[in-house]
Amino acid sequence: MPAATQSNPQSAIHNPLSAKLRIVIVGHVDHGKSTLIGRLFHDTNSLPEGKIEQIRKASEAEGMEFEFAFLLDALLEEQAQNITIDTTQLPFRTDKREYVIIDAPGHKEFLKNMVTGAASADAAILLIDANEGIQEQSKRHAYLLSLLGIRQIVVAVNKMDLVGYRQERFEKVRSDYTEFLTKLGIEPLHFIPVSAKLGLNITKNSPELSWHKGPAILEALDSMQISVPPEGQPLRFVLQDIYRFDERRILAGRIETGTLKVGQEIVFWPDGKGSRVKSIEEWNAKTPPTEATVGESVAITLEEQIFVERGDVGGPPDHGPAEGREIHASLFWLQEESLPLNVPFTIKLATQSVEARLVEITRVLDSSTLEPLAGSPGIIHKNEVADVRIRARKPLAFDRHDRINETGRFVIVTGKRIGGGGIIREAEYQDEKRLAGADENLTWTISPVTPDLRAEHFGHRGAVLWLTGLSGSGKSTLAVALDGQLHRRGISSFILDGDNLRHGLCSNLGFSPGDRSENIRRAGETARLLAEAGLVVICSLISPFRADRENVRKICLRDGIPFAEVFVNAPLEVCEERDPRGLYKKARTGEIKEFTGISSPYEPPVEPELELRTHEHSLPNTLSDLMHFAVELSRIPEPRVAEELARGSGI
Ligand code: ADX
Repeated sequence: MPAATQSNPQSAIHNPLSAKLRIVIVGHVDHGKSTLIGRLFHDTNSLPEGKIEQIRKASEAEGMEFEFAFLLDALLEEQAQNITIDTTQLPFRTDKREYVIIDAPGHKEFLKNMVTGAASADAAILLIDANEGIQEQSKRHAYLLSLLGIRQIVVAVNKMDLVGYRQERFEKVRSDYTEFLTKLGIEPLHFIPVSAKLGLNITKNSPELSWHKGPAILEALDSMQISVPPEGQPLRFVLQDIYRFDERRILAGRIETGTLKVGQEIVFWPDGKGSRVKSIEEWNAKTPPTEATVGESVAITLEEQIFVERGDVGGPPDHGPAEGREIHASLFWLQEESLPLNVPFTIKLATQSVEARLVEITRVLDSSTLEPLAGSPGIIHKNEVADVRIRARKPLAFDRHDRINETGRFVIVTGKRIGGGGIIREAEYQDEKRLAGADENLTWTISPVTPDLRAEHFGHRGAVLWLTGLSGSGKSTLAVALDGQLHRRGISSFILDGDNLRHGLCSNLGFSPGDRSENIRRAGETARLLAEAGLVVICSLISPFRADRENVRKICLRDGIPFAEVFVNAPLEVCEERDPRGLYKKARTGEIKEFTGISSPYEPPVEPELELRTHEHSLPNTLSDLMHFAVELSRIPEPRVAEELARGSGI
């Protein structure tokens, strides 16, 4: 058997036991980043033997003055040739401990590294040129740091030699920058005047800058804390791949937070399928481990063979991630090309990769002024930060960024490039939601009959097919015909029809917007229960309001129930022409008030899973599409087989 656990170059830096402080150095392109990095390597003796001499000679040969920035270039070049070294990780050490400089903005992988959390930093050095002062980039990078939640920050005011070591100049930069940083809630630990080129205030205080009473750069770094993953966070086991050996299915992934123990219950989102951890596999281990913890990449087997796939996030049954097709996020856009509403892109969140688009931009800020832009925004331009609502084609599992960082960040890919990154601001948790607003003495009873067992019993999964459309569009006709066909095919189904429900469960409701919402809520909750019991529920209600339908979608997906919005679409003229029960006629004369399409609005679905145009196609054809769709929706997914995996992406 091949090694189940893949070596992960990044895992060491996540290990709290490896005492390396991860720092990121950010600032305007010309403010001396490379020089500072070169200088840090030099002054800490972290360079390979003879490297300086070699570069000095090379620069002389080309008639150039020796620059510390060349050191960095040379190092990067060397690392790039050596594929076993990760070029985004530059290690150096002081007497106190080891450091890793994570690739800085400007280097193309920076955003990806930062936002995917593969290499989030413990601390940052913000570099400002004493001569030029605060530039737009100085502000943007600070914003990015605040967005990513990096709290330990040192501001290095560089090139003090070019301003005659004048304290006033330093103080001016300090007060300007402090004003901006305060708005972001950033309080730097120190402002340090330096000259990276001359090595002043890098390892120790320099006489030229004797008026500076604070520490030198390395002293400041040595006093910082390595961020330890918060204790007691719930497990997030992010699946990278699934392998099949003999009869065993092995799930390989990375523990982003929490711990994973043999024997514990684990549920995978967004599907919500659960089992128990049977073993933690380790290549060549004499005694296999019984526990694995944050930062480790491990492979596990489960007691039951459930269908899971790359991207799924495992967690404890009662403290799982949030899930859904929509996320509310703050988005930082870095690409030249702007990002408009409704244009598809790929969202990458942990190992999930799903097509999505912006459905709402609530607010856009210019990241250098922090001023909200006027007007109603329909597009995000380069270097803007926006509060947005993103809708994905498939449900995602995620966390609120401030609750779990690792599964609370994402990047957006357009074409092959990372265009921006974001953090998730809101997430509704099953555990919070179920008890929200309820008496605190209420609990949630969980039956030993799992959804998988029920599905096995029925031979299919429970599901909700939500038929929405105008009165007379054909919902009930289709619902009745579908119910008959499903029954003949051995699929257990049930119709929830608006008219029928209004005779009992919803008999106290009328047709005001509020009553309609309540009508849909009741119908939705009932559908969810019936689907949980194992049935394919065919809902046939006008359900004119988008938000109400979205709520039903949310409660279904929250509980792992497949949901599909089916838009039974016929133009109002056609429905009015059909008018099977003469209701439109009555609505026109005013005999029926608040009639949908006439005197009450209908909000058509934006992105229904299925659209049936009943005025363009015959009933048998429409029914056949619907039937096919229903069968697929309720099908128990086949476990992924090894051959398929071989074709797909590896770790
Ligand atoms: S919904 O808007 O709340 O989803 P629902 O599907 O339950 O409506 O009920 C719609 C049915 O109620 C229609 O098929 C029609 O028979 C009847 N009805 C009576 N009054 C109205 C009205 N004002 N608007 C729409 N439907 C009405």
